[in-house]
Amino acid sequence: MANVHYASIGDVWKHLPLAEVLQIVCPLRYWETHSGSSSYPLTRSAERNYGAFAFLERGRHSPELEGSSYGRLLARHVGGEVPTYPGSPRIAMELLRSTAGHFVFCDLDGGSLSNIAEDARALGVPQGRVRLVQEDGVATLERELSGLAEDEVVGTFLHVDPYRPLESNTEGQTPWTSSRGRRSGGLGACCGTASTPDATGAPCWRPSRARVS
Ligand SMILES: C[S@@+](CC[C@H](N)C(=O)[O-])C[C@H]1O[C@@H](n2cnc3c(N)ncnc32)[C@H](O)[C@@H]1O
Repeated sequence: MANVHYASIGDVWKHLPLAEVLQIVCPLRYWETHSGSSSYPLTRSAERNYGAFAFLERGRHSPELEGSSYGRLLARHVGGEVPTYPGSPRIAMELLRSTAGHFVFCDLDGGSLSNIAEDARALGVPQGRVRLVQEDGVATLERELSGLAEDEVVGTFLHVDPYRPLESNTEGQTPWTSSRGRRSGGLGACCGTASTPDATGAPCWRPSRARVS
């Protein structure tokens, strides 16, 4: 597991709108540049107490939060024999497995990708519908996007979630410029987030663009 910030308050602010948007848009393709793992052990830590655990405790007083797509999904995972926290690949596969034609998940960490593969099998998502790529996510999905016909761009949801949104890869591309959705141009949906604690130690969430047609 490469992502140690799971279930933090940054994840709550990222995954709550992600789950809602996916349920509304139901994209045909879900592609992610920095996927992380699919399921994480939901154990106590200061970061998680202030994140997912605080959401679960305080969400009980809000029918909107408790009944949200994220709230219901999280409650199912916490209520299992071994409580887990669903990362974005799990959220996407659970919400879209019956509608999304194709998932692409990129990460440099092989362990995170193996975890996604296990969950895809457990959820019954056919192998041919999940592509796992252990390479730079921005370069990979820029290539994939340039191969799409305009009518295929419609219904493609690109999730860009790096630790460092302004850092260039070897091809000079940054997650930030990629998340502005060169090809999606108002047709598909593109969402960019940065969930890494900033210099003050506070988690941050910066939507760069979210378009739904
Ligand atoms: C913020 S975490 C992802 C969290 C996940 N998107 C979620 O919402 O549950 C960032 C992930 O990016 C991966 N990563 C770092 N550099 C990368 C790169 N150049 N290309 C693809 N993945 C990368 C890390 O291994 C880590 O798992």
